[in-house]
Amino acid sequence: MIKKAIILAGGLGTRMSPLTKAVNKQLLPLYDKPLLFYPLSVLMLAGIKKILIIVNKGQLSQFKKILPEKNNLGISIEYKEQLSPRGLPEAFIIGEKFIGKDNVSLILGDNFFYGQSLTKILKNCTKLITGSKILIHPVKNPQLYGVATLNNKKKVVKLAEKPKRSKSSYAVTGMYFFDNEVVKFSKKLKPSKRGELEIIDLLNIYKNKNKLKAEFIGRGGTWLDTGNVSDFYDAANFISTIENRQGLKIACLEEISLNNGWIGKSQIYNAINFYGKCDYSKYLKSLIS
Ligand code: G1P
Repeated sequence: MIKKAIILAGGLGTRMSPLTKAVNKQLLPLYDKPLLFYPLSVLMLAGIKKILIIVNKGQLSQFKKILPEKNNLGISIEYKEQLSPRGLPEAFIIGEKFIGKDNVSLILGDNFFYGQSLTKILKNCTKLITGSKILIHPVKNPQLYGVATLNNKKKVVKLAEKPKRSKSSYAVTGMYFFDNEVVKFSKKLKPSKRGELEIIDLLNIYKNKNKLKAEFIGRGGTWLDTGNVSDFYDAANFISTIENRQGLKIACLEEISLNNGWIGKSQIYNAINFYGKCDYSKYLKSLIS
């Protein structure tokens, strides 16, 4: 079972220009709430309550302002700093103490997931006992991502990071599920040509041991990566379209907690006070009236 997760909200943004990279994206609002809320909501939908957030050096206080450790969500939040962007698997080295003897999930702080069957898929992934699981989704431009090649039995036979050419259109999304060996394997990794520990190298260790499984988000589901400015605004438009049509919010953390039975009315009132007068607070009020 997986009951702990890490959000890597630092060391990302290699596809952002230096000008836009100056601000940590996770602190920017993606439409009507901080980008960080979206990956966090995905973990909460998966039923994960123990969360470590890894942020860039010097940005702890900004993060704690929008999401304090003592929160109204009924979940446990811890923070750690990443001194410089040394690759995604470094999350497991920084998070070694947090992980302890448990299995763990990792979600990248700039990934967005949405869809009817998402919760079911996520809950299924958290049942993992040994090995690893990835979520895959077809994209038009796989060369921008980690790419999984499948055989006719839908088994992953090859994984490559940003291959120039690939017959497969299946991107490896930024949410991963691992058994406890992930810490040991991450420590064994050597930096790639770009000087970083690569998540694909880590996944290849599991694949070569026949311990990697891929789960499809399915074409009714949406995966967006807000890695560059244009993708960031595309995601904002997507959220605005859905929210304004349905009158329901995507990634309202308190709503998920309430539905999970983790909090009650009093925490919602506290949250309304914490956020102040805004559309998000108005929505929270509507949940309890
Ligand atoms: C990272 C991973 C890549 C994965 C992607 C998902 O890429 O290295 O395998 O497909 O996240 O968002 P990056 O965003 O660092 O370019």
